This record gives sequence, C-alpha cells and structure tokens, in this order.
Amino acid sequence: MSSRFKCFILSCLLLILLLLMLQPVAAEKQNQKLLQDQKLSQAIDREIEKHRPELIKIRRFLHMNPELGNQEVETARLVATKLTSLGFEVKTGVAVTGVVGLLRGFRPGPTVAIRADMDALPIQELNNIPYRSLKPGVMHACGHDLHTTIALGTAMVLSSLRSRLQGNIKFIFQPAEEGLPEAQEGGAALMIKEGVLGDPPVRAIFSLHVWPELEVGKAGYASGYLMASSDNFVITIEGKSAHAARPQEGIDAIVLAAGIINNLQTIISRYLDPTEPAVITIGKIQGGARANIIAEKVVMEGTVRTLNEGIREKIPELMENIISGITRSYGAKYSFRYLKGTPPLYNHPDLVQAMLPALELALGKNNVVAVKPQMVAEDFALFGERVPVFMYLLGVRTPGVAQAAPLHSPYFNPDERAIPVGIKAMCYLLLEALEQQAAMSKSEVSDVIK
Ligand code: NI
Repeated sequence: MSSRFKCFILSCLLLILLLLMLQPVAAEKQNQKLLQDQKLSQAIDREIEKHRPELIKIRRFLHMNPELGNQEVETARLVATKLTSLGFEVKTGVAVTGVVGLLRGFRPGPTVAIRADMDALPIQELNNIPYRSLKPGVMHACGHDLHTTIALGTAMVLSSLRSRLQGNIKFIFQPAEEGLPEAQEGGAALMIKEGVLGDPPVRAIFSLHVWPELEVGKAGYASGYLMASSDNFVITIEGKSAHAARPQEGIDAIVLAAGIINNLQTIISRYLDPTEPAVITIGKIQGGARANIIAEKVVMEGTVRTLNEGIREKIPELMENIISGITRSYGAKYSFRYLKGTPPLYNHPDLVQAMLPALELALGKNNVVAVKPQMVAEDFALFGERVPVFMYLLGVRTPGVAQAAPLHSPYFNPDERAIPVGIKAMCYLLLEALEQQAAMSKSEVSDVIK
C-alpha cells in the first residue's frame, strides 16, 4: 500500500469521525432553533386565540349531539367539512365513520400523526349546563368531544404554518374507542387494518386524554406504560334448582359464585408478584329466580387489567383453574369465556424523552408532571404496537375546585379552558416531531451516501 493511499484512507476515517461527532450537535441546534423561535410561538398563540370562539362552539355542538361508536355520522361530517375547507386531503368512511386528513407541508418530508377519538358513551347526562346532551341516554362522558375539538383546532393552527412544514401531518379522527358489541368491528384495530398508518407511512403518533385529576394548564406524562390492558370475561355456573329449604337436593349456583368471586381475588393477592399491578373485577352478576328457590344458574361478567403482557397471558388459566376446581367439587357445570381486548398502552421512552422539552416549552416546565400508570385502558395502545406513540393526560379540572367528576360519570364536566392548552401542546409536539424526523431522514440519507 502506498503511503499516499494510506494517508487518503486515514483522512477519510478522520472525516467520518468528525461528521459523526458533529451530527448530534447539529440536530440539537435544529431543535433549539424551532423551540426558541419567538415568532413561531407568537403565531401559534395568535392563531389559537383567533379560532377560540369557533372551537368553543364546535365543542358545545359535539357535546349536545353525542354519537355512539360506529355511529359518529354528524361528528364525522363536521370534521371532514372543516378539514376540507382547510385544504387537507380528506378520506372519510375509514373504519366505518372515521376521518383522516393529510396536511402536506410546502417541502416534502416524513409524516407524523395526531389521533383523536370521536365517540360518546351510553350514559344519561345529569349536568345542568346550557349545552348538555340533547340525546337521551347518550353523553360525551369521556371527553372525546374535547379530543375532537383540540385536534380540529390543531389542524386550523398548523394549516396556517404550512410554509414551515418539511413533511406531512396526518390527522386521524377515530370512531368507536369505547368498544362495540361483540359482532361489530371498529376502532383503532379497524383503522389499522384499513391502512391508516401507511400512504404516507406514519413515523410517530401523538394523542391526549382529558384528565379530571389534573388542573387546567397541566399535563401528565409517563415514559413507558401509561395505561393497562383490558380484557373481558363471562363465567356461567350451572347448578341444580331445589326448594330453598331442601338444599341437599340441589346444587346452589349462588354459593358457588360466592366462592369463585372470593377465590379469584387470590390470583392478585397470592399468585402474582405484588409489585406488578393487576386488577380482576366482576362488575355484573345475575342469578336465581326467587327468594325460596335454590339458584340453578349464575352468570358473571368482569374485566381484567394489567401492565404486563406475561401476566396477561397467565391470568385466564389461573382463573379457569379456580372456576373448574370449585364447580367440580360440588358437581356443577361451568362455561368460561375470556375475550381479549386492548393491550397495555406503552409510550415509547425514546419518543417521550425527545418530545418532553417541546411539551414543557408549550405549557411551562412546572405544568408538566410525571404520572403513575393508570389501570384504565385505551385502544390507542394498538397504534403503539406498530409505531412509536406518545399519549399524555391533559388537565381539565377547574382551578380551585377540589374534586372534579371522574371520567364516565354522568356529571363529568371538563373545563373548556383546557382546549387552547391542548392545541398549543399538540402544535409544539407535532412541529418538533416533524423537525426531528426530517433531521433523522437527512442523516439516514447521508448514511446511505457514505
Ligand atoms: Ni376516553
């Protein structure tokens, strides 16, 4: 090997080393550039303020006209009309009633997404507010009216910043988050099946859930698990009826049910590692015909929540051991159906770490707090199985009010002042994510060239 060639190789190696060292610094500078752009943050604030009255109107319209899963026809129409008027590429009828809008930036680049759910719950609203639900027995008791409004507001603001975007932002308006009757398909699972994560492919997805335990202005985040898995089960016990005064002639399904209920709790307290959270709840029980007849049949329905896939796999078998053991000892029959639902919701730690500064800048560092994982569930978790996701909790409790009505309560009444807060947080997160993804794409391209 000639010395000139050796020298050439050496300088090439040095150059590569130098480029590798400079790359993170360059990416860091780029982030800071976006986050510290005063004009940009002022423009976002101005746009939010401009659209605020319209957004409050939209939220109240949605609240007054709630629609159950896979029936979000008017909600979807409103969303699609708004996105079309903003010049987005709009797809309707995705996963029955879902709407997907694509905002293309002036410069081509990667795609990041925001997801909002649109469905309401079969609950009779008991709030006495001028914009209470007009539909008997249907209510936005989980705040999805706010989720939809915040995503629409984010679309309005970001459409005015299109010239700054290098890449695209996909707005996913999802139906049927709250679950559906067994025979129906829908929600996040069907959206994924119908290709919502492709064309163009989505690199990261953001979502929020309103949270009445946190005050307006605050957001809660968790790196890793934020919410639990949610599975359902149905247990049927078949005994033998007899006169209530002659128990020796029957098999009492109610006594067996009592034994099963108590023993199922020992799965949590005796079988599982106490540091691993898990819940087994029986929420519905039906059995017996009369006070003076031994019950022939009991049907129980319930739910299982965990933050650990291994435990989630183990629980059905442990449950069946108990059910079969108790029923067999008394000569009764049983059936046990375990219906797998959504997996635990896992916020990708790298994404959370990369995005936290943007969230803190949007809301103020002291307003962004770490929260413990919650044992409620969200089908947003299904997106997280395919793409890095970040869901955070948005405070909706009125400052000064000690306790707000919880989610799914007929008195749930989130403070609307959380709407501009949510929009600002989403704008910062999406802009920052797009910037970071674009920077990553550039370095990937230069990797290929090297
Ligand atoms: Ni919800």
